[in-house]
Amino acid sequence: MKTIVNVGMVAVWVACLAGRGAFAAPSEMAVERRIDELIARLTLEEKIGQLCQTNGGQSTEAMSMDKSTEVLDPAFLADVRAGKYGSLLGQRGARNYNILQEAAMAGCGIPLLVGHDMIHSCRTCYPIPLALACAFDEELWERIGAAIAIESLTQGCNWTFAPMIDVARDARWGRIAESAGSDPFLTSRFGAAMIRGLQGDDLADGRHIAACAKHYVAYGAPMGGRDYNAVELSDATLRDVYLPPFRAAVAAGVATVMPAFHSYNDVPCSMNKYLLTDILRGEMGFTGMTISDWAAVGELVRHGVATPGADAAAKALNAGMDMEMVTTHFADGLAEAVAKGTVSEATIDAAVRNVLRLKFRLGLFDRPTLDAAAIERTIDFAAHRALAREAAAKSCVLLKNDGVLPLAAPRVALLGDIATNAWQMQGTWSTFDFSNTTNDTLLAGLVADGVDVAYTEAYTLTGRVDCAAIARACAGADVVVACFGDYLEKSGENNASARIELPGEQLKVVDAVKASGKPLVAVVFGGRPLALPELAEKADAIVMAWNPGGAGGWGVADVLTGAAEPYGRLTTDFPHATGECPKFYSRTTTGRPHVPGERWTTRYNDVPFKSVYPFGHGLAYTTFRYANEAVAVEGAMVVFSVDVTNAGRRKGSELVQVYTHDVLARTVRPRRELKGYQRVELAPGETRRVEIRVPVATLGYTVDKIYRVEPGDFEAWIAPDSDSGKRLTFTL
Ligand code: GLC
Repeated sequence: MKTIVNVGMVAVWVACLAGRGAFAAPSEMAVERRIDELIARLTLEEKIGQLCQTNGGQSTEAMSMDKSTEVLDPAFLADVRAGKYGSLLGQRGARNYNILQEAAMAGCGIPLLVGHDMIHSCRTCYPIPLALACAFDEELWERIGAAIAIESLTQGCNWTFAPMIDVARDARWGRIAESAGSDPFLTSRFGAAMIRGLQGDDLADGRHIAACAKHYVAYGAPMGGRDYNAVELSDATLRDVYLPPFRAAVAAGVATVMPAFHSYNDVPCSMNKYLLTDILRGEMGFTGMTISDWAAVGELVRHGVATPGADAAAKALNAGMDMEMVTTHFADGLAEAVAKGTVSEATIDAAVRNVLRLKFRLGLFDRPTLDAAAIERTIDFAAHRALAREAAAKSCVLLKNDGVLPLAAPRVALLGDIATNAWQMQGTWSTFDFSNTTNDTLLAGLVADGVDVAYTEAYTLTGRVDCAAIARACAGADVVVACFGDYLEKSGENNASARIELPGEQLKVVDAVKASGKPLVAVVFGGRPLALPELAEKADAIVMAWNPGGAGGWGVADVLTGAAEPYGRLTTDFPHATGECPKFYSRTTTGRPHVPGERWTTRYNDVPFKSVYPFGHGLAYTTFRYANEAVAVEGAMVVFSVDVTNAGRRKGSELVQVYTHDVLARTVRPRRELKGYQRVELAPGETRRVEIRVPVATLGYTVDKIYRVEPGDFEAWIAPDSDSGKRLTFTL
């Protein structure tokens, strides 16, 4: 048989090589042939149908509700049968998933992608990503990804719009809650781990689903921290800060990428060819599928850069957008665009190819329906809940402790409305989790851990404070645990905050407890770093609990009681005031680096320069000592080593961090950049020599679109956070 070398196939092969460092498997060649055959028999209308995703009129809220008894609209079914959509947005439940897939196969013969936002939860809710990142534990992300994937299938979803890998450095931005924080290195590691968990090694194995790296790109850098706002960056900052997580996601084999809503240097991401084609496919070798964000193709009209229908569709598709979510400019305008010549049918075929390739990778042609009952029988939901509880404990960050923790006092007073609110433990994307039952609370967790606890609401986070009730509660207790922070509804999408100080009259709570003379343990909930200078000064202990998930109250209680060791380290900075945002540790020094007390150096005149709590900060219930720090360049590696001693009387977990700084470069470089970390568990008195190997290749930076590692001098720190550590030097 004559072999026709298909240029497209060669490109796919090359991209596969580049994208995943492996040769195109014969099965991928077979898939490309099946795609060719399929495309050859599709009409233009059927091809366009494959590029359309509809929510079927469901609202975001409705998409999360239980669909087990939903009756599908016959007209909707008829559209699915006719191949009007390549994908559905929003779970339909397992029963209707099968009905819809059967209709698609009986009609157009092409199965559906069904996608939903399982960001940190499905039927079990885990801590928000900003919390989970504090565990500095890739294996935990991978375990959670796998647990979410298998639960998603029981809800009739074969695709999730996760992980969100936007580097976030501005606490005013509400979606910082969904991010892994301010550091590109960490975000890259955690995003890739989540993708491995969600996708596994074989998307067609019936236990994994397609992932989606979002939001491409630099969505976390909107002007003013205001969601959807314009982003303006240098190309070097784009490439060294915001693109690395997507490069890592592509290398991890992510199936899909979602462009962001905003304009990047005046061109909306949804029609930005430089981003979607030149970089994502040309430089990174991405061979998956791009899906617009909700109505983002339609929003090109509001951006003022397109007219509805054919124009918006052509600009998005030609830039590299494969599928349109919710709006219908592709459906309404692509045929017209082809007729007018603003879109070629070859461009449409290329997009259809990306959609079909994912459907083949998922095995949907061979097995379009799923046996949810059989899958359900393989899921150990108790184990998932235990995982959620473990993750909640590992996500907590012990910010301060004057010795009052772990709780040992006989009588504990617990204060604040959050302490008994299971829903507030969930998080900004608690998609399906119905575990907001009354027993998933901090109060229930403390009781479960055997604490003699007396609960008094006394105040809400935003309401009035009953100081008399607080006084009474304190009088009957030996230690007071009070809940602070912000409601989960104040973070997440379109929840930028112009103030990140504690809302309401919470500081009155601090003073009321301090007036009682009893120790104050502050437990802070919320989806963003907050400005906590007063709490830092007056509380005897502070635990950042974030939105800890469906077993979060129990996980936080485990940390407070010492049933779980404090494990978390911050992946963002906690500023003194909103006015400092965006605040992040890897800042450049400026020509007038801050020097305490010196007037003409970079600073604010009304708050201290250092963060209240810096990136990397977090305490244990013991103390650690570092000694004999050393660094050596060994070929392609820089090897950092240090003796770490547990100097306390209790076992503990320390996260040793390595930061570097390029002393003399062509462009200004961050004062410190995290380049490696290693966790070490030590018994009391135990010393261990920790070694962290950093590839030389990671010590470069970009100038004129070229990433270079240059010879020269570096500073380095082996430290417990981004502000401390002994200064070391090495030379490449
Ligand atoms: C939302 C979000 C995106 C999500 C999509 C579908 O607006 O920006 O992260 O995946 O719509 O719900």
